Amino acid sequence: MRLQGKAAIITGAARGIGRAFAEAYVREGARVAIADINAEGAAATAAEIGDKAIAVHLDVTQQASIDAAVATVEARFGGIDILINNAALFDLAPIVEITRASYEKLFSVNVAGSLFMLQAVARSMIRRGQGGKIINMASQAGRRGEALVAVYCATKAAIISLTQSAGLNLIGHKINVNAISPGVVDGEHWTGVDALFAKYENKPIGQKKKEVGAAVPYGRMGVAEDLTGMAVFLASSEADYIVAQCFNVDGGQWMS
Ligand SMILES: NC(=O)c1ccc[n+]([C@@H]2O[C@H](COP(=O)([O-])OP(=O)(O)OC[C@H]3O[C@@H](n4cnc5c(N)ncnc54)[C@H](O)[C@@H]3O)[C@@H](O)[C@H]2O)c1
Repeated sequence: MRLQGKAAIITGAARGIGRAFAEAYVREGARVAIADINAEGAAATAAEIGDKAIAVHLDVTQQASIDAAVATVEARFGGIDILINNAALFDLAPIVEITRASYEKLFSVNVAGSLFMLQAVARSMIRRGQGGKIINMASQAGRRGEALVAVYCATKAAIISLTQSAGLNLIGHKINVNAISPGVVDGEHWTGVDALFAKYENKPIGQKKKEVGAAVPYGRMGVAEDLTGMAVFLASSEADYIVAQCFNVDGGQWMS
């Protein structure tokens, strides 16, 4: 029960990795707000997790939605101890085919969404005066470019950079900002990624998934539960002295 009595808000937690984080946090004693643009999915996930979870509608691209979600969670839980900036979109295209619309959408959700959620929650934490923990979801895609993934890679590089700046700026308020960098994690998200690679690399559906799984030194793709240990640790008091870092949790992929 390393998060006993803590209140967390996790963006994009209706499904996938965010949902696994919410389940793990509740197991560790926290109350969790499942904050997602998919209101129906968030409500279903919160209901399945139980009475320690609430659903909050959130579109991270809209400042009014961010402010309303943060106010709701403050009111329901009496304050916010932990934020996970997990909501993100993926897209893929060769450089000459990237559209401005795709670029703007990905930067709006992945980068601006994370920054302004972090800002709203940091303001709340500073008002309360009890510090807090903020975890941003980066990616191995943020550590190096990929031929077909320029925009998503750039958004995740921006997340690593924002984690460093925000980490340095907020630690004076005892708010730790750190990031997790997953490798390839199976789930609905990767079904979409696989379909995009199938289109652009001319592969049968499912082929890219097999290839990326086989390339992981651990021997398989990750699953969301592979990441929960790091997410719990970084949100706990055991991580008080950890500032502005980005941790690979990737079965050895980054090293290979
Ligand atoms: N799955 C992977 O292989 C992988 C690898 C590296 C990093 N990541 C990162 O981990 C995080 C979670 O990934 P996932 O695989 O669970 O993704 P996912 O696509 O399964 O889930 C993303 C969630 O974000 C929500 N969302 C989308 N736009 C939103 C918005 N504007 N406002 C609020 N919520 C919104 C979606 O409704 C969805 O529930 C992301 O930041 C992703 O970039 C994933």
